[in-house]
Amino acid sequence: MVTQAKPFVKWAGGKRHLAPQLKPYMPRSMDRYVEPFLGGGAVFFYLLAEGRLKSCKYITLCDMNPKLINAWVQVRDDVRSLTAYLDYIDREAEKAYELDADGEFYLKVRARYNDPDVPNLEQAALMLWLNRNGFNGLYRESKRSGYNVPWGQYAPARKLDRRNLLLVNKALKGVSLVCGDFTVTMTRPTPGTLIYCDPPYAKLGDSSFVAYLDKGFDEEQHRRLASAAVRVGEAGGKALVSNSCTPFALELFEDKGLLVRDLVSQTMISRSADTRGATREILGITKHAFKRA
Ligand SMILES: C[S@@+](CC[C@H](N)C(=O)[O-])C[C@H]1O[C@@H](n2cnc3c(N)ncnc32)[C@H](O)[C@@H]1O
Repeated sequence: MVTQAKPFVKWAGGKRHLAPQLKPYMPRSMDRYVEPFLGGGAVFFYLLAEGRLKSCKYITLCDMNPKLINAWVQVRDDVRSLTAYLDYIDREAEKAYELDADGEFYLKVRARYNDPDVPNLEQAALMLWLNRNGFNGLYRESKRSGYNVPWGQYAPARKLDRRNLLLVNKALKGVSLVCGDFTVTMTRPTPGTLIYCDPPYAKLGDSSFVAYLDKGFDEEQHRRLASAAVRVGEAGGKALVSNSCTPFALELFEDKGLLVRDLVSQTMISRSADTRGATREILGITKHAFKRA
């Protein structure tokens, strides 16, 4: 399928602007596509638009964030009910913002979202609404306070693009969505599989944003990921692993025998505005020949 569907959540570290730079390193077609660090899925949507997933028999998208995967599942399985719920929140927001627009409604929605007993469909709608209306579209949770992103000061409240949600719904038919650690989708590599990995990056310094979830992604996890990528290559698949250009990441990729390529990115989410700008990113690529099954 070729589609104009776009990411429906804004996600820290999203690869929307970088995806075209990945294209030269990706096979033109493949049997199976796996994205273990899904986030907003920018690379998945890019490959769909480029027609590269047309001959794919299996597509598996995975992330460790259960609320994020729930939102993807609701868009795939029940987009009509999801948009009906979003319509309801939009109407409530309009009424509340007519009375005042100081962010109180946003805080109410956020408190409801953090209630552990919220049903899955409602949770997905609340998450998508908060993602459009929270500060800078970032997603941050802590054990103590749950999702804690402040109001983005949008008044009137921003709405989700319904047409895009319907396009995404169609694009996700037959796609497996998995919630779990990346190892779940990388343990049994097969020929003809392309795996694109975009983990939380090795830290550049205090301002770099890696806290999608309470647990970080430490050096040991980067090592495990690089080893899993090598096994994908050995099995006749291909793995691409993104990271920031740090001495740690460079050394790791070289030690594991991955090819290293430079990419240039715009870091959009950073705690201080003056650290925004071009940063160097690298791509670790498996060296073995890619074989279709
Ligand atoms: C850099 S973001 C991915 C952004 C994505 N490429 C995009 O374009 O939106 C990294 C993602 O990895 C997820 N993550 C963190 N640790 C993980 C793990 N151990 N296994 C799988 N996913 C993980 C986070 O929840 C986050 O969504």
